Amino acid sequence: MSEKWVFFDLDGTLTQSEEGIWNCAKYAAERMGFPTPDAGTLRKFIGPPLVWSFQELMGMTEAQAYEAQEIYRERYIVKGKYENKVYPGVRAMMRALRSRGVHMGIVTGKPEQATRDILEYFGLMKFVERISCTKDSRAEKEHLIRAVMPDAPAEIWMVGDRKFDMEGGVRVGAHTVGVTYGYGSPEELRASGAEFLAEDAWRVAEIICPGVEKPRGAFLSMEGLDGSGKSTQMEKLTETLEKFGFEVVHSREPGGTPIGEKIREILLSRENMEMTEVTEALLYAAGRAQHVREKIRPAIAAGQVLLCDRFLDSSVAYQGGGRQLGVDQVLAINAPAVEETLPLLTVYLDLDHRTSLKRRSEASQLDRMEVEKEEFHARVEEGYHELIRRNPERYVVVDARGDREVIAEQIGKAVLGKLLEEEE
Ligand code: TMP
Repeated sequence: MSEKWVFFDLDGTLTQSEEGIWNCAKYAAERMGFPTPDAGTLRKFIGPPLVWSFQELMGMTEAQAYEAQEIYRERYIVKGKYENKVYPGVRAMMRALRSRGVHMGIVTGKPEQATRDILEYFGLMKFVERISCTKDSRAEKEHLIRAVMPDAPAEIWMVGDRKFDMEGGVRVGAHTVGVTYGYGSPEELRASGAEFLAEDAWRVAEIICPGVEKPRGAFLSMEGLDGSGKSTQMEKLTETLEKFGFEVVHSREPGGTPIGEKIREILLSRENMEMTEVTEALLYAAGRAQHVREKIRPAIAAGQVLLCDRFLDSSVAYQGGGRQLGVDQVLAINAPAVEETLPLLTVYLDLDHRTSLKRRSEASQLDRMEVEKEEFHARVEEGYHELIRRNPERYVVVDARGDREVIAEQIGKAVLGKLLEEEE
């Protein structure tokens, strides 16, 4: 059987570890009573052995440098290794290669436990069949590759960001891809034998498997009463997802497209107080029809995670509950707008309507929906609760009155859990 194997370097190729390295170096310097290293000095910590860096960059004696290394490692093991980011496009690239039956492995100078912990933490272990690490950071990549190389692969590739990766690859007869988003320059990579250069991680998949298609992305929505903190939590969730290498795009309803934004103005303007309930429901649905086709579906097809501030559930809660049109009528109006396009997961920021009212009244200008009476918002709240009762598995429900950071952590955990499960 013809087998294709791809070996990846870890740091600078799949993950970006500088934040953890810098924080640990700062911590060690401070604990040793040395001044906090500046950004320029910290940057030089990436690459060389730690003991060398503490001596040469910070003026420690050899004994002090060894002590600093111990302190650095203490922090690295519990915290530093997770202060790490997956490069954009890495997940899509590994999923696409797996879908083509390509075997993947990791070849890194990092210790094995840290490598496994990082791959597990970021949900990348499932793509990887072999891991080759070393206890000695000076070990040649060539030997690390040979240690895990299959006997007679049809094709073997080495992907990395430094000359050591390219040279090792060339010596074992592999095709080589140098990634230019890591720590090495295109010149360094070319001079050390890179056969291809990739400016982003997705390009690696296209080089190894020409014509490969991007795996589908995902559609997520955020719901809640006005004042429940959706915008803040959208930002925080985006940060978390990006750290894991997901490409996130934001949108909102009503709005999200040029036509949708015009409809939004009509819907929210207090000049339009005479608007009937059915007109209102149809306008929300009209904006949604455009949004689904112009923005949501193309984003999913392009492999992105589209995070939307409100979607169909808002219509069910506000027009169905608040305006008392009923769930069935609202769903009927929206059926041609959404067809089969529904969120994979919906985050509901649970806030009671009285607290919502209090928060809204502190806002500067209220729109046509926000000026509605308390009973209206009580019915909206009940509308949401009814939706969640009917379909609990689609919702992540969090108490919106809690601490922002705690809420963000709860949401991040639940959403990541679902997205990583989808990759299985
Ligand atoms: P927001 O963008 O500030 O959340 O405001 C949008 C308002 O529109 C908000 O009060 C909820 C309301 N709305 C509906 O009534 N039905 C819908 O389908 C959507 C998307 C929003």
